[in-house]
Amino acid sequence: MSKQPYIVPAIRRVSQSSANPQRLGRTPVIDVIDGVPVAGLLARFGGPLFVFSEAGLRAKIRDAKRAFAAVYPDVTFAWSYKTNYLDAVCRVFHQEGSMAEVVSGFEYEKARANGVPGARIIFNGPYKTTAELRRAVDEGAMIQVDNRDEVVALARLAAEMDRDLKVGMRVHVDTGTHAVWSKFGFSVEGGEALRMIRWMTENTRLRVCGLHCHVGTFMLDAGAYATAARAVTELALEAEEAGCPPVSYLNLGGGFASRARLHGQYLPPEQATPSFDDYARELSGTIKDCWPQGRTLPKLYLETGRALVDEAGYLLASVVAVKQRTVKDAGAALAAYGKGGAGGALAAYGKGGSVVAAVGGRRNAVVLDAGIQILYTTAWYQPSIYPAAEPRTGVQPTTVYGCLCMNIDVIREEAALPDLRPGDAVVIHPVGAYNITQSMQFISYRPAVVMVGTDGHAHLIRRRETLEDVRGPEVVPGFLSEINGTAGEARVDRQ
Ligand SMILES: Cc1ncc(COP(=O)(O)O)c(C=O)c1O
Repeated sequence: MSKQPYIVPAIRRVSQSSANPQRLGRTPVIDVIDGVPVAGLLARFGGPLFVFSEAGLRAKIRDAKRAFAAVYPDVTFAWSYKTNYLDAVCRVFHQEGSMAEVVSGFEYEKARANGVPGARIIFNGPYKTTAELRRAVDEGAMIQVDNRDEVVALARLAAEMDRDLKVGMRVHVDTGTHAVWSKFGFSVEGGEALRMIRWMTENTRLRVCGLHCHVGTFMLDAGAYATAARAVTELALEAEEAGCPPVSYLNLGGGFASRARLHGQYLPPEQATPSFDDYARELSGTIKDCWPQGRTLPKLYLETGRALVDEAGYLLASVVAVKQRTVKDAGAALAAYGKGGAGGALAAYGKGGSVVAAVGGRRNAVVLDAGIQILYTTAWYQPSIYPAAEPRTGVQPTTVYGCLCMNIDVIREEAALPDLRPGDAVVIHPVGAYNITQSMQFISYRPAVVMVGTDGHAHLIRRRETLEDVRGPEVVPGFLSEINGTAGEARVDRQ
C-alpha cells in the first residue's frame, strides 16, 4: 500500500450554519419577550423596534452586585452612560443603586437631568472643558483626570478657589491580553503616573485620592483584571510611600464581556464569556493580596456597561425582500449542511425552491427593514437572528442584508435561518449595548424603543423619529430660500 501524504492538521472556524449538519433539535424562535408577544409589539409600535427587558436589566446588575459583594467589602457600580443613555435604561440602574459614569459634558448634563446629584457622578474622558470641570468641581463630582493639560486646568481652578481638590487619576496598564488603551491616562509601567502624582502633590492643590484603570472592552480574559488591579494597587502604595496622600479608592472601569459573539470567535458565548464571579474573584483576590494586612481595603468602583445591558436589548425587524445571492463557496456550504453533494444537501434541506437556487452556487438572502446604521456593533459582533414564529422549513445559510443603499450593509454574512418571506419578523439579539448610543439617522429615521416592564406591559421609552427631528436644527440661508419659484417649508435665515 502506498504511503498517504502527510497533511498538516489545521483548525478551521466552524461557521454557525455548519455546526449542526444534521439539524438536530428545534430551530430556536423568539416569539415572546418577557411574556409580551413580538407580533403584538410590532403591531402596536411599528418596526423596526428596539425592545428592552426591565427584568433583564435588573437581573444583571443584581447578579453583578451579588458576585462582588460576596468577595469584597466595599463595591459601588456606576452606570456607563455611553453604553446606553436612554433615560429609562439609566433610571433602572440608578434605582438599583448605581452612580452615573459619564465621559463628556453632554453625558454629565444627561445624568443631572435624570436627577443624579453631582456627587454621584464619575466624570471620565479625555476632553472636559474648563466650564465643565468648574461645574463638576462645584457639584462635587468625582473627576478622573486624564492628561497633563487637564491637570493644569484643574490646578488653576483649585488655585482660583483657594482650596484643595480631590481628584482621581486615570492610568493605563499593559495587561498582556489586549492592546493597551494608552490613549487614556498616564502610563504605570513607564513611571509616568507616579511622577505625575508626586508633581501634583508637590506643586498644586490637587490631591490624588483615587486611581482609575479601564483595561479595555469585551475582556474575555478575566485574568487581565488581576494584572491591572495589581498595578494600580502597587502604584497607590508607592505614591503613599513617596509622601503623597493615601489613595482611598480604586476604579477598575468596565470591560466585562457580554454574551455577544465577536467575528471569528471560536467558542460560543456560553463558554467564552466569564461570569461576574470570575471577574470578582480576580479583582478582589489581587487587591487583597497586594494591600497591607490589617489596613482597611480601598473602596472599589466599577463602571461595567455592556455586560449589564447587552442581553436585555432586542431588535425586532421584518423581512422586506427575499433574494438569492451568488457565493463562491456555496458548494462547500452545502456539503457541510448535507452529506456532501447536491443530493445530500437537498435531502437535508427538505422542501423549498430556495434549495435548488442554492445548488446553482447561490445562497438565500433576505433584506430587513433595519440596517447597520442602527446596529453599529455588527462591525465587531455577530448577533443571533431568530425567526419570530415557528419556521416553515429547516434552516439554511442565509445572508441577512440591512435596508441601506450601501453594499456594506450586511447584518450577518451567514445566519442559520429557515425560509423567510416578506413580512416575516425576526428578532436580533443581543443588541442592548452601544447600538442605541451609536446609531444614526443615516438614510432612515431611528426607530422607536420600548421597555417591557416587570408589570408585564410594554412602555414606549423613545418614539420613532420624524422628519422634524432631522430638520429641526437646520436653517436655510436666505439666498437659498426659493427653488423653482417656490419657497418650500424651510426655516429661512433672512439676515
Ligand atoms: C472609562 C470607561 N468606563 C466604562 C466603560 C464601559 O465599558 P464596557 O461597556 O466595556 O463595560 C468604558 C467604555 O469604553 C470606558 O471608557
